[in-house]
This record gives sequence, C-alpha cells and structure tokens, in this order.
Amino acid sequence: MTKCPPNPVFLLFLFFRIFLVMALNTTIPINVGVVLDLDTRFGIIRLSCINMALSDFYASHSNYNTRLVLHTRDSARDVVVAADAALDLIKNVEVQAIIGLESSMQANFVIDLGDQAQVPIISFSATSPSLRGSYFFRIAQNDSSQVRAIGALIQAFGWREAVPVSIDNEFGEGLTPYLTTALQEVGAGIPYWSLIPSMATDDQIIEELHRLMSMQTRVFIVHMSPSLGSRFFAKARDIGMMEEGNVWITTNGMTNSFSSSSSSVDIDNMQGVLGIKTNVPNTKELENFRARWQTKFQQDNPTILNVKLDVFGLWAYDAAWALALAVEKVGGTNFSFQKMNSSHNSTDLGSLEVSQGGPELVRELSGTRFKGLSGDFSLINGQLQSSTFQVVNVNDNGERGIGYWTPQNGLVRNINSNRNTNRYSTSNASLGPVIWPGDTILAPRGWQIRTNGTLKVLVPLKQGFEELVSVVYDPSTNTAKVNGGYCIEVFDAVIKALPYPVPYEFYPFANPNGRSAGSYNDLINQVFLGNYDAAVGDITIRANRSLYVDFTLPFTESGISMVVPLKGNDGGKNTWVFLKPLTWDLWVTIGCFFIFIGFVVWFLEHRINEDFRGPPHHQIGTSFWFAFSTMVFAHREQVVSNLGRFVVIIWCFVVLVLTQSYTASLSSILTIQQLQPIVTDVNLLLKNGDNVGYQEGYFIYGILSKLGFKDDKLRTYNSAEELDKLLQNGNENGGISAAFDETPYMKLFLATNCLKYTLVEPTFKADGFALVFQKGSLLTRDVSTAITQVQEGDKMKAIEDKWFKKTESCSNPNTASSYDTLSLESFWGLFIVAGVASSLALLIFAAMFLYEHSHILTCVDSKASFWTRIRQVLRAYDQQDKTWHAYKKSRKEDGVHGIAAVQSSPNTNCLCLRRPSRSSKPNQIEPEIVLEEQEGTTSTQHSDLNPNATELTSIT
Ligand SMILES: *[C@@H]1O[C@H](CO)[C@@H](O)[C@H](O)[C@H]1NC(C)=O
Ligand SMILES: *[C@@H]1O[C@H](CO)[C@@H](O)[C@H](O)[C@H]1NC(C)=O
Ligand SMILES: *[C@@H]1O[C@H](CO)[C@@H](O)[C@H](O)[C@H]1NC(C)=O
Ligand SMILES: *[C@@H]1O[C@H](CO)[C@@H](O)[C@H](O)[C@H]1NC(C)=O
Repeated sequence: MTKCPPNPVFLLFLFFRIFLVMALNTTIPINVGVVLDLDTRFGIIRLSCINMALSDFYASHSNYNTRLVLHTRDSARDVVVAADAALDLIKNVEVQAIIGLESSMQANFVIDLGDQAQVPIISFSATSPSLRGSYFFRIAQNDSSQVRAIGALIQAFGWREAVPVSIDNEFGEGLTPYLTTALQEVGAGIPYWSLIPSMATDDQIIEELHRLMSMQTRVFIVHMSPSLGSRFFAKARDIGMMEEGNVWITTNGMTNSFSSSSSSVDIDNMQGVLGIKTNVPNTKELENFRARWQTKFQQDNPTILNVKLDVFGLWAYDAAWALALAVEKVGGTNFSFQKMNSSHNSTDLGSLEVSQGGPELVRELSGTRFKGLSGDFSLINGQLQSSTFQVVNVNDNGERGIGYWTPQNGLVRNINSNRNTNRYSTSNASLGPVIWPGDTILAPRGWQIRTNGTLKVLVPLKQGFEELVSVVYDPSTNTAKVNGGYCIEVFDAVIKALPYPVPYEFYPFANPNGRSAGSYNDLINQVFLGNYDAAVGDITIRANRSLYVDFTLPFTESGISMVVPLKGNDGGKNTWVFLKPLTWDLWVTIGCFFIFIGFVVWFLEHRINEDFRGPPHHQIGTSFWFAFSTMVFAHREQVVSNLGRFVVIIWCFVVLVLTQSYTASLSSILTIQQLQPIVTDVNLLLKNGDNVGYQEGYFIYGILSKLGFKDDKLRTYNSAEELDKLLQNGNENGGISAAFDETPYMKLFLATNCLKYTLVEPTFKADGFALVFQKGSLLTRDVSTAITQVQEGDKMKAIEDKWFKKTESCSNPNTASSYDTLSLESFWGLFIVAGVASSLALLIFAAMFLYEHSHILTCVDSKASFWTRIRQVLRAYDQQDKTWHAYKKSRKEDGVHGIAAVQSSPNTNCLCLRRPSRSSKPNQIEPEIVLEEQEGTTSTQHSDLNPNATELTSIT
C-alpha cells in the first residue's frame, strides 16, 4: 500500500471544515455501518441497544465534536447479503467502521474486506476463535474461552467420555481443537464428534440422535445456534434422550441467549440441561439500563412481546460506546477515503478505496478503557477480556444458576467468596444441587453399559476343576447353563459392589452339542469382536490377550506353582532317635543342672548328713548318684536340712516336667511319619529327564518348553482326577514327577490331596485370573475398584472357603505337620526357677554359716593372713556339726534331752588361729586328714593333736 501525499486542495478543504465546526458550533458526522439480521428479534434488540448506546453517549458527552451516524443494513441471516451490505457500506457510504455481523460466517468474509479497506469491523456475536484480522474487533468472549469451564464440569462429575454435538459450520468447527485439548487435559475422551448441518432437516437430526443413542457415552456437549438447538432438543426429547442417565451441556452459544429467546416449549424440552453462560456482574447501572431499555423497546416495537436483554445486547451497547469514544479521540479531521493503486479493478472488490483514518482508529479502539455494562471494557489483541462463566441448570420454568467458573478458582458456588484463595476447584461439591434429565438429583455416571442395558457375559466350558466354573449341559433341550463356581460367585459379588446396578446374563461358550466352542483365545476373540461385553472364568491375564481385550485387576493369587508327591521319611528307624526330642543345648543344660544340684545338695547336707560324709570320692559319688537318681525319683539318701529339701523338691518338679515332655515328644516322633516333597527344584527334574504334567489347552505348555522340557516329557491332564492318577503312577510308570499349573488350580487340587502331594511355592510369574471386558470399556475401571473392595472385605474369604473347601484331614494341620523338637527356650523359665532357688539356698546357708563362724574372720588378735582365715573357715565347714548330731541322736533316744544337749553345746566358742611360728615346719597342717580321722571329736581336742602347728586358744 502506498499513501499519496495530501494535495493542497485537500488540506484547504480540511481547514475549512474545522473552521465550520468551530464557528458554527456544529458536530462532524462520522459514518458507521451497522449490519444485523434485522429479520430476527435478536437483530432488532441489538440495534436498539446500539442506538441507545449512542444516545446515552452523546447525552453525557454533548461537547464532543464527532457524532456517529449509523447506516443500517439487514443481512437477513445470509453470508452473501451481509458481505454485499458491508461492501456497499464501505464503497458507497464510505463508513469508518462497521458494527454487527451477527454470525461467525458473516464476519469471516467481511473481516478480510475490512482489512483491505482499513475499516474496523466490530462484532459482538461472532465468537468463533478462528476469526482473525488486524481490523477485526471482537467485543465478545471467543468460544475457546469456555472450554476449560466445560472440562472442569466433566472432571467435577467424573465423566470419562463426552460426545460434542456441534453445528457443521465455521461456528461449530472453530471450537473443535480447543475443546479436544481441554477434554484431554481432564482425562476425558472424545469417542465421537457429531456434526449437525446448519440446515439440517428433522430427519437428519433424528438420524444423528439415533446414532448418539446407540453409543455408550451419555455425556453430550451441544455447541450450536439457539434456533437449531431448540429444534435439536425437541427431537432429542421425542426419541427419549432427555430421560434419566443422559447429560447435556450447552455452550454459551446457546445458553447466553436462552433466557431471551426460548419459549416455554424449549424450556420443557431442555429440562435438566447444564449450560455454560457468560457471567455479567450485576451492577446498578445494568439494572437501570435494563429497565430503560425494556420500556423503550416496547415503545418502539409494540408487536414484539416477551423480550429480554441478553449479553450480546450489552456487548452491542459497549461496542457502540467504545467506537464513539475512539472516534472522538481520533477527531473528525482525517476520516476520508483514498484510492489505491490497484492493478485489478475489474470488480467492486478490486477497486476498494482505503480509509485514511483506519489505522488511527484501530489504535485508539485498542486502547479504549471504560466501565461498560458488561463489565470492565478493555481489549487485548482486539478481543474483549472477560472469562468468567456461570453454570446454569434448566429447571421448571427457566434456568437456575448453580455456580460459577473462573480461571483462577475453577468451579465455585459464589463468585465473590473464593476471590482470595488460589485453589483451583474441580469438585462438584462447589456447585449447587443439579436436577438432571429425568428429574433425578443423582449425577448420571455418564455412560451406559449397552443399548439394551444388559451385559452379555461369556463363560468358558470346563472339563475339570468345576469348582472354578461350572456349566451344566441339558441334552434334552440342547442348552448349556451356567451353574456357579468360584469365578461366577466372585463376579456376582463384584457387580454387586459396583455403585450402580449392572444387569447381566451369562452365556456359556458352548456348541449346541454341549462341547466347548473353542479355546480360551477364541473366547477372548468373541469379546474382541463385540459379540459379548465381557467374559468371566478362569481366564488368565496374558500379554497377547490384553492386546484385544481389557483385563480388570486379578481376583486370585497369581503365579504358577509346581505340585510334587510327598515321600515318607522313616523317622522311627533312626539309631539316635532317642536324642531327637530335645535339642543339644537343652541336653547340655540338663546335664549341667544335674551336676549343679548334686553340688548344692552336698554343700547343704555335708555338715549334718552322714550320707554325704566320708572319703572325697565317696562324697562325690554320693552327690552325683543322688542328683541323677532324681531323674527317675529313685534317690534313697535322706535329705535332712530344710534348705536341702527345698532345693530337692523344686528340682524334682523340674525333672517331672522334663521327663513328661520328653516322653510326649519321643512318642510323637516315633508315631508320625515324616512327609517331604520328593523334588523341590525344576532343574533337578530337567537333569533327571523326568516327565512333568500341565493342564491341557493352557499356556503353561509354552513356559515348560521354554524351560527346556522336551515334548515327549510333557503329559497333559484335564481334571484333578487325571492329575492325581498321573502323579500316582510316577515317572517310572508313564506318569509324572511333578505338575505345573496356576496356583488356584493347584490349591484346589491340594485341598483334597494334601496328604499325598505338596505345593512348591510359585515358581514362575503369572498374573492370575481376571475379568475380561471389551477394549476401552468404561466398566473396567469401576469393576477393578469393586474387585479390590470385595477382596478387602470378608466376602472374598467366604467365597474362597466355600469353593476351596479342604477335606477334614487337610483342614486340620496337626495330623500332617512335622513334630517340634523341644528346645531350651521351652524350658527356660523352669531352669531359672530351679537355678535361683538353689542359689538362694546356697546363699542362705553360707550366710548362716559365716555368721555362726564370724569370729574366725574377725578375731582381733589374729595376725593370720586372709587366706589362712579362709582356710580356717573351710576347715570349720568340713567339720561335722556336732549339735545336729547330738540333736539327731537325742531325738532318737529322747527328744527333751536332745534340746538340752544342743543348748549346752560348747560349739559357740570362738577359735582364734595363731600364726604358725617361724621355726615350725611348713605343710604340717593336714586338717582334712586329721578331721577325717578325728571325726566326732571337738575342735579343742583337735587342736591338742597338733600342738606344733597351731596354738588354739579358746575364748568364751
Ligand atoms: C457548542 O454549543 C454547545 C451548546 O449547544 C456548547 O455547550 C458548546 O460549548 C459549544 N461549542 C463550541 C466549540 O462553541
Ligand atoms: C479467546 O479468548 C481467550 C480469553 O479472552 C484468550 O486468551 C484467547 O487468546 C482467545 N483465543 C483466540 C483464538 O483469540
Ligand atoms: C482500473 O480502473 C482505472 C480507471 O478507473 C483504469 O484506468 C485502469 O485501466 C483499470 N485497471 C485495470 C487493470 O482494469
Ligand atoms: C436386549 O436384550 C434382550 C434380552 O434381554 C435381547 O433379546 C435383545 O436382542 C437385546 N437387544 C439388543 C439391541 O441388544
């Protein structure tokens, strides 16, 4: 574009014009085009808003020099008519701006025209986000600004899929990329995008609705014009899609003008619909304007009744206001058109003149800021900044606000309450109560199981292991019937645990002749092909299967186990079997205690009991004999002291417990046959070249061959009975040494065969049994949750107990389990009691003895060394306690004298030991020997026998 320099004549004309304005105090008229669908009530409403905006504006700004002069054209809801009107306005009327262009389609072409002629195009209702142009102003929210609000709603109610239904034109398509992204952000899928032609016939609408009806997803996002939308909902209601279970969300394209346009019939048709609606803050000015506008509109258009102002009217008002403001800022001076040096001027479009004031007007308009009716007016990139929405619910006789959505806070009940928090809420608790289609307050789950509502569940036919799945065949009617089983009952329990009812029917995977209709992979294929919705049974999760169907979480233990026969262990024939009941440390402890008790009894009895006196070897022999004979309670020696009796009686109790335990343990070892698995290692089987078994038609074969088992080593079985027979025959007789299968089968097998076989814990990984659903089925996730719930409760335990019932001998583990060797820990307490009691007795005795003989240690005049004194005490201990003997003897003769004898005992005398003189020969003291010889003599006599060695003085 090249601008021509202003010529002098043109400048002169301008000055003249300004002079005229100044002198005559007249205003400069600025031509502005208005293109609206004046054949609709919307067009008329919006035009009246524009007119009111200008009269309000110039009433409050009467000193302004410019006056907008409107040139109105009717676009008659036609893109070509609108384009023609715009072209006419630019070319012939030389308008400085065009307001209007109601639809995005109309705006699309005119925007380019405006760019060409540098004429701002201001639309307040062309909302498609795809519209762009440097002379295009959108005094409205673009459609993409609401997609996050829709996403938040979808997230709030936990819907996982939604089907957008949009009109098939610029307006509808503009939303596509934005809505797709927004739904992806909240994890919701779009299984289908329904497009309704803008000129669709009723039949076309019904056909599309039937398609929607046949789908699982029950959440629909409707993005269309109010006129098409009203027809669409009427038909949707006719075919029953406004019933319970459906969710309809309308975009603001419909909801914004819902209150102003809809008849009571529309409202009836749309009961329960949720809508996203542009939020306009309610202000006093707005209230005031609504009232004024209502009166004026009724005066001007007495034939149009029941009109209400919608947000588009407010935007129209603000747009006109903003334009008037911007035009005044530019000034009335340089609005003129100039020819362009265009090379192709064969048509009207080619010979467009260019508005001189256009660029400046765009600049001014972009910077315009004021407080408009629809809120704060400010433009960024030519677009109105406004992004809060109201969420409405259509009920009874109109719409009801249930909350708001803002970019900062997400869904909120009240727009002002959450201003300060920065939390983005996507909880439906932030919304008011919603009444859904079908007059229910329960939020629909957003999808249906099947058109028909009944889940078709395929069940495999099994030959053996009928506890898992049982299908019975009735030859008279040629039908198979599902008869129960563990898997079936788990499925029943899981479906019951779902938060919503799911009706279902079982279909056995059987031919009319009662045979299985194929392998498990064929069964999976049937679900994949969509002939059935689900499959239940002993179906293992496998990687290749999960390519075609969806598995839930497993409901059984996982893993592949090996079952091997048990072999008897001849415990009774062992030479050293008598040692087995007790552990070696217990044996050692018992031995030590016998010796200890022997010593204690000797120590307590030595002074007073004839039996424990005599030559040392005799004493030692007697002590041990005494102690060990308590083992069979055969001790004959009398224990005379109370302390000794106390020790012996406690020890006898310990011995009693030990012998009884020993007897019990030994008898159990001798009677119970020890059972042990023959083989516990797969590699051993491979090395020996043993035969192994697996269940026919099962994937275990693949695992076994991968392990290295040759085909001729593999045997198959179909039932527990066959497996039992194979194992019983053993490797030598054409049977098998071990069988591999998934843990549930093996548990079932062992429940009745636990005495013959045992399970070697999971050898290989497998994922366990799971329920099968069609790929992408929305049930899978909920059912998995339900499985977890059932497993956490006691329901699963009850089902398992019922079907994995153990035979009596297996449920009582005592008969089969191994014996327990008695260990030291079992008797620790006993030994502590015995040890403490004996030690206590020892201490008491020693204390008493030392007290009696304390004078020996504490003798004042003694210069004897400590060791000498100790020796002295020991010697005193070794002496027989005469008082006791006197007592005993006298008791035998005459009890009264005995007491007198004790009292008259001279033994209270203290003996002080003098140091042996240096001249005396060492080692002359042989007290023990002397004592032995002189048994029965008093200490005084004793000292007299060795006058050289010691000098004993008697102190009284
Ligand atoms: C023009 O007249 C209006 C009153 O009609 C007056 O308020 C305004 O100040 C006048 N303007 C000029 C430039 O004289
Ligand atoms: C639509 O409006 C939003 C919010 O006003 C804005 O962020 C976005 O850029 C607009 N999109 C387009 C395509 O103009
Ligand atoms: C365009 O129009 C001008 C006069 O209106 C004429 O002189 C010129 O030849 C035309 N150009 C073309 C390419 O037709
Ligand atoms: C609905 O279920 C019934 C049996 O309950 C069946 O006969 C009918 O074919 C099903 N309809 C569809 C469309 O699946």
